[in-house]
Amino acid sequence: MPRPDKHVFVCTQNRPQGHPRGSCINAGCAEIMNEFMSEIQNRNLFEKIGLTTTGCMGPCNMGPSVLVYPESVMYGNVKKEDVKTIVEQHLLGGEPVAHLQMPAEVW
Ligand code: FES
Repeated sequence: MPRPDKHVFVCTQNRPQGHPRGSCINAGCAEIMNEFMSEIQNRNLFEKIGLTTTGCMGPCNMGPSVLVYPESVMYGNVKKEDVKTIVEQHLLGGEPVAHLQMPAEVW
């Protein structure tokens, strides 16, 4: 198995409706996961980019949360239309997307 250049972790943590911490499921992470899958499939990036669902990474009220390694860059409030930007600018271009990153006090 080839080692991917980048590994994307999408939080898919669920919690009951009304939970004080909320969850990335309630914030729409399923759509974000699907969009990453489509981008990887359409660009044939299966061997370059790893994509894994994960549980809670901490900043639940700023989800959907997406973490990219090896840079350890975390994105928050990711929208469907942001995924293409993350793929093109960060995963392929090597330049993290500054305006989508979690605030420094969070991550
Ligand atoms: S539920 Fe996704 S970061 Fe906590």
